[in-house]
Amino acid sequence: METETIRVDREHLAPEDLKKAATIIRKGGLVAFPTETVYGLGGDAFDPTASKRIYAAKGRPSDNPLIVHIADISELTRVARDIPQVAYDLAEKFWPGPLTMILNKREDLPRETTGGLNTVAVRMPSDPVAAMLIREAGVPIAAPSANLSGRPSTTCAQHVIEDLSGRIDMIIDAGASKIGLESTIVDLTCEPALILRPGFITKEMLETLIPDIGFDRAVSGKPGDEKAPPKAPGMKYRHYAPKGELVIYSGNRQAVKERILAEAEKSLREGRKTGLLVFKEEEASFREKFGDKVTIKTLGSRDNEEEIASVLFARLREFDDEGSEKIFSEALSDGGLGSAIMNRLMKAAGYHIEQV
Ligand code: TXA
Ligand code: MG
Repeated sequence: METETIRVDREHLAPEDLKKAATIIRKGGLVAFPTETVYGLGGDAFDPTASKRIYAAKGRPSDNPLIVHIADISELTRVARDIPQVAYDLAEKFWPGPLTMILNKREDLPRETTGGLNTVAVRMPSDPVAAMLIREAGVPIAAPSANLSGRPSTTCAQHVIEDLSGRIDMIIDAGASKIGLESTIVDLTCEPALILRPGFITKEMLETLIPDIGFDRAVSGKPGDEKAPPKAPGMKYRHYAPKGELVIYSGNRQAVKERILAEAEKSLREGRKTGLLVFKEEEASFREKFGDKVTIKTLGSRDNEEEIASVLFARLREFDDEGSEKIFSEALSDGGLGSAIMNRLMKAAGYHIEQV
């Protein structure tokens, strides 16, 4: 299949720019499009064949449900039923934006879209390209992240091309996604409500409306460790994994730095292609130490979590391009956006974290 890539300008967007993409969606085809979190791989949420095509293009297990994207709060009732008041309160406060809600699904929404579940994940993205595409298509758009299953989510069109070129109909290139981490997922079908995946909308922000909100056990635990399976089926799969082995070190900052230096030297002695994922504050001293013997990728300043979030997936992909076999990284403190960043980093490391 030939994949067409079109470029659009977020700031000067006209409905005509997205006519062809909307037509593809309406006819059951697949279009990768930008959202403020990551790029999505979209199809008509009411077309079971389109949903099956999404799973096939990503190589994703079909029991892992898709997120349904809408362009207006009024469209919630097209996909969900028995919607609690708190859903409207959350929508009022955080939509359009990086928050996904799990609600009971409407009978006519195909089970292919929800991975066989009776619930549906719904989100209203704030990226103007995503919003206009949904409006032009005239249907809610089912879209997982636009990456091959197991690879980091895509935050720019180039990454989508790497993963999905030849497998989908169209890619809409509007530059980098602003946030860089996938949306926060909140399950509103249980009591108390639970965060199934941390994201840019933090637990602290959600507590303003749901004081007793908690984290699903799968958020902090290693898959397989907990007695109950994770509530978001996607959280049970190994994700975001670079091809090399990533190890995270946590503890006193100076001690962590010394440990990473020692581990990197050992890895080099063993003849391995070695990589370091570091904060801006440490970059110069690591470069001074290793020169170009080690691949050093910088996440941005430790104090700027928004910057770290926006570059994390791109950096993880770059280690693959370099063929890194061993990668060492420092942990970030938990809480706020740090929780979401650490959640993704831990998955990338296959939960290999060592206390120093
Ligand atoms: O930011 C995002 O959410 C991006 C953009 C494209 O919107 N989408 C995204 O989709 O990250 P995906 O498919 O890569 O991740 C969706 C997650 C999966 O872990 C899936 O298991 C979970 O949401 N999920 C979807 N529907 C669910 C449901 N009904 N119940 C529980 N978890 C659900
Ligand atoms: Mg994904």
